[in-house]
Amino acid sequence: MTTLPSARILAIESSCDETACAVIENGRALLASVVASQMEIHARYGGVYPEVASRQHVLSIVPVVEQALAQSHLTLKDIDAVAVTRGPGLAGSLVVGMNMAKGLALGLGRPLVGVNHLEGHIYSSWVYDAGEVVPPEPQFPLMALLVSGGHTELNLMTDHLEYQRLGSTLDDAAGEAFDKVARLLGLAYPGGPSIQKAAEEGDPTRFSFPRAWLEGTDNFSFSGLKTAVLYEVRELEKKRFTLPVHDLAASFQAAVVDVLFTKTMEAAREHQAKEILVAGGVSANRALRKAFQSQTEFRVHIPPLALCTDNAAMIAAAGYFRFALGHISPLDIDVQPTWPLS
Ligand code: KG4
Ligand code: ZN
Repeated sequence: MTTLPSARILAIESSCDETACAVIENGRALLASVVASQMEIHARYGGVYPEVASRQHVLSIVPVVEQALAQSHLTLKDIDAVAVTRGPGLAGSLVVGMNMAKGLALGLGRPLVGVNHLEGHIYSSWVYDAGEVVPPEPQFPLMALLVSGGHTELNLMTDHLEYQRLGSTLDDAAGEAFDKVARLLGLAYPGGPSIQKAAEEGDPTRFSFPRAWLEGTDNFSFSGLKTAVLYEVRELEKKRFTLPVHDLAASFQAAVVDVLFTKTMEAAREHQAKEILVAGGVSANRALRKAFQSQTEFRVHIPPLALCTDNAAMIAAAGYFRFALGHISPLDIDVQPTWPLS
């Protein structure tokens, strides 16, 4: 096994509506993590407004980097490399973080490391708070379920930075389905946490919504489920019934969790994975976490809640392994708004 070098990485994440900076030591020990969320601003529009997001990043980026450095008790001179999210994400938002990272790397004479945002989500399971008990490191081959606002994928990770994409969604991402169904039910943005909250007081068996198993593949599909909820809502409204929002939310969530959990378990068995990893915003979902944590067949890595949604700690972790394994980026790299993981 190769011994990896010691290094402190400062990372920047600005792919969507969170401006974030973090400092990590040796890819795992988190020294600082600051996230400035724009959620309240975008909630007014019922979703992320790209132009507004870029301009908020411009306002937040310098204070966020300064706060992260202060929290880490380090100075810029102590940083060995600067990592940054290169994509996927909103182009105008990515540019802000990218330019800040390039400026820092150039000014400090340190390497720049471009990181894929989804790779970042995966590496959030390597992170722990410096000073805490070191949690077990994920072991390869690892079956990684990525569930975010823009992606739903199963990747077999055979080693650091080695991904084999087995399947992905044919239509909506899981998070997107949560957001769209929340809107349909009149629940607040972002939809995931709103559905979860409503579902906690609902009956998940009241409506038997369809599960798209897509048997024989590792792909997913959530648009049929979303349409089934829409038809149910229309039907109930036609009869002038008060919408049973809690039961609808619980039944919808149960269908999503059922498919994500079952297909991931099947893929892990089929590909002889040692362990399972769940990452991305939807991994914050309590029902999904419970499904994975209740089984004993595989050790499952799911990040703590603060690391499920967008943050820079995960970019710092992935950035460290890229840096340590010699994947340095030139200073003239562009952002990659649609950058698949594999
Ligand atoms: O990873 P993320 O923060 O951003 C992207 O990279 O897309 O994921 C955001 C997505 C949103 O669709 C949001 O509704 C969903 O994650 N999400 C949740 C929960 N918290 C966030 N979905 C279900 N349950 C949650 N508790
Ligand atoms: Zn994300």
